[in-house]
Amino acid sequence: MGDCCLKMCLALLLGLQILVALVWGNTTTDLCEKMCSCTEVEGVLHINCEEKGISDLQHYSAPTSRFYQLFLHHNSLSKLFPNEFANFYNAVTLHLENNGLHDIIPGAFLGLQLLKRLHINNNKIKGFRRHTFLGLDDMEYLQADFNLLRDIDPGAFRDLNELEVLILNDNLLSSLPPDLFQNVPITHLDLRGNRLKTLPYDGILELIPGVAEILLDDNPWDCTCDLLPLKEWLEHISYSALIGKVVCEAPLRLQGNYLNETSEYDLCPWKVDNDLSLVAPPAQGATGLPATPVFQHPRSPTSASMHKGQLKPSGNWQQKTRPSANVVPNGSNSPPLLAGCPTACSCSFNNPESGLEVNCRGSKLESMADLQPKPIKAQELFLRQNNIEIIRRSHFVDYSSLTLLDLGNNAIKLIENNTFLNLTDLRWLYLDNNNLETLNPDMFAGLQNTEYLNLEFNLIQLILPGTFNSMPNLRELFLHNNLLKSLPVDVFSSVSLSKLSLHTNYFMYLPVTGVLDQLTSVVQIDLHGNPWDCSCNIIAFKQWVERMGTDVVVSELKCASPDQFWDRDIKSISNELMCPELYAKIHLTFSSSSNITISTETGTHVNPYLETSRVSISVLVPGLLLVFVTSAFTVVGMLVFILRNRKRSRKRENNSSASEINSLQTVCDSYWHNGPYHAEGPHRVYDCVTHSLSD
Ligand SMILES: *[C@@H]1O[C@H](CO)[C@@H](O)[C@H](O)[C@H]1NC(C)=O
Ligand SMILES: *[C@@H]1O[C@H](CO)[C@@H](O)[C@H](O)[C@H]1NC(C)=O
Ligand SMILES: *[C@@H]1O[C@H](CO)[C@@H](O)[C@H](O)[C@H]1NC(C)=O
Ligand SMILES: *[C@@H]1O[C@H](CO)[C@@H](O)[C@H](O)[C@H]1NC(C)=O
Ligand SMILES: *[C@@H]1O[C@H](CO)[C@@H](O)[C@H](O)[C@H]1NC(C)=O
Ligand SMILES: *[C@@H]1O[C@H](CO)[C@@H](O)[C@H](O)[C@H]1NC(C)=O
Repeated sequence: MGDCCLKMCLALLLGLQILVALVWGNTTTDLCEKMCSCTEVEGVLHINCEEKGISDLQHYSAPTSRFYQLFLHHNSLSKLFPNEFANFYNAVTLHLENNGLHDIIPGAFLGLQLLKRLHINNNKIKGFRRHTFLGLDDMEYLQADFNLLRDIDPGAFRDLNELEVLILNDNLLSSLPPDLFQNVPITHLDLRGNRLKTLPYDGILELIPGVAEILLDDNPWDCTCDLLPLKEWLEHISYSALIGKVVCEAPLRLQGNYLNETSEYDLCPWKVDNDLSLVAPPAQGATGLPATPVFQHPRSPTSASMHKGQLKPSGNWQQKTRPSANVVPNGSNSPPLLAGCPTACSCSFNNPESGLEVNCRGSKLESMADLQPKPIKAQELFLRQNNIEIIRRSHFVDYSSLTLLDLGNNAIKLIENNTFLNLTDLRWLYLDNNNLETLNPDMFAGLQNTEYLNLEFNLIQLILPGTFNSMPNLRELFLHNNLLKSLPVDVFSSVSLSKLSLHTNYFMYLPVTGVLDQLTSVVQIDLHGNPWDCSCNIIAFKQWVERMGTDVVVSELKCASPDQFWDRDIKSISNELMCPELYAKIHLTFSSSSNITISTETGTHVNPYLETSRVSISVLVPGLLLVFVTSAFTVVGMLVFILRNRKRSRKRENNSSASEINSLQTVCDSYWHNGPYHAEGPHRVYDCVTHSLSD
């Protein structure tokens, strides 16, 4: 009902808009006449409007007599309003990547009746609402990876009765709402790199029986009874579908195990015990030995990857998304290559557009120089599990077409400066499980489009200032399981990370100012497994952690010192207990007398520890009362002063300075309500001034 009404309203609006446009005369500019380059590619018009600074589309249109693909990536379309695309009803593909897009008002896509593919990846979208995709009745392909998706309305895809490919990897989904796929004929689903702990059968899996590929890697799967349905379902579909790795993160005893290699008993001892009569006796599990896998039909990787070739949406469904790491390409299946393929490797064209994939995993290579003949225009290069120790600049002369480079699990201890200078298209770089000790800025120079950098399990002790400055697009950074004790100031100032992993290092403390406070867009940071020193130094850090909340700072932080707090959760210890000196001092000054100068003195003492000065209420109340009384007088005094001044200067037409003072005062007032920890009237006023200036 409400649905219908909304649709009608929006349609009316659209009509009205067109009417206005007609009456007004043509006020739109054809993108192809100005601004953009329009080319024909295989009979389809491509309207290339990337990086044109476009922030809305109202005043633009496109040829009305042709179908076209509309490329609008790297513009400034940060918010889409209803009927945004009303002049573009002949679009069949729409590219909106990298627009800083954070809000799509329902109805934004209205009118795009012919659209088959929508790319909204690499933006900042936090959720899909009920009517976000209203009007896209014919859409088959939706790419929304690398956003900040947390909430999806159960009805978000309700009208997408043609949607087959749904790419949602590298978001923040911790669950999928029930019935999300009602009447949606999904065949390809990418959910990698989210926060899923489980996927229920009822309401989710039962609705996607036709899935040919489902990628579930890099989620913190909770291998308990709740995951049984997923396990069974995966076993059931695994003959016909490609599945990513499902690795358990919890419970601890199963951490790191593949779901397919756990038994039902491992997941759910109680259930199996109760069903003893029906299921094989859980003898192996009960003796503590790893239970033998119970599944019967081992799936051969080659059959799966061959199967992939036959999939319906032309096999290139993941074009430009994160490549699936589990597909091992086999050169012998692909057409003969014109270019050479290094002898130690197998090469394949995943699809004609995405270029060559070169797989040299586990080939005992000792140097990149051994890759002979050199592959031409390689796009993905897998060199995992070799014995490479040194990466030289000269090795990378002809690899500028790479989008993915996997150097994980080698013995790399040196990467020459500027090695990657030409890899400007590289988006994924894996350097995990190597022997790197130091990171410096010249190591990563040139990687201007890199979004994913994996450096876990190295020997990194030192990160030099500016190391990540050459990677403005870096979104995910993995530095866990290294030997880090500190980070340089401003290390994150030029990147806007969404995921950062620093766990299992040697951090005793991390500064807020200049380091953590630069993580303005971080949505997930993992800091566990560091030896936190729970003394006065850590208070600012503790407050930062509390402010971010458990959604962002995942996992517990345990104190390693001092002894009395060993193994306790940082958050469980009160600030007073952690830093008695500090609180004793404050307490003393406030209780000793009503001497104002002393309290400012503590103010300066406090600042290094207390970042936003959240002193406990009981201590603050007397102080604040005092401050309030003082400042009330000051404010009244100022007001009177200003009013009088105004009266005098009214005739002089010089009220600009007065209004300046007024605005200053507003700033001060609001600042005052936020309760900064400063006692004296004069001090406060000073703070107000700097505050208003810095704004
Ligand atoms: C506006 O109208 C004129 C002729 O009336 C036409 O030449 C021009 O292409 C139109 N512009 C747009 C953007 O439709
Ligand atoms: C389980 O899945 C992983 C990842 O796909 C695979 O490497 C492994 O061989 C599978 N185990 C069995 C017993 O099939
Ligand atoms: C490629 O597939 C063929 C069978 O088609 C197989 O014999 C060969 O071992 C495979 N090579 C690799 C590298 O997987
Ligand atoms: C970078 O690429 C240019 C041409 O694209 C080439 O001339 C140059 O030698 C390359 N440099 C390196 C270090 O690969
Ligand atoms: C590489 O660059 C770093 C600065 O980023 C510099 O300290 C180092 O000396 C350089 N190494 C070589 C071999 O030039
Ligand atoms: C405030 O304390 C200082 C010493 O800390 C002292 O010199 C000063 O006289 C005191 N003022 C008042 C008003 O008590």
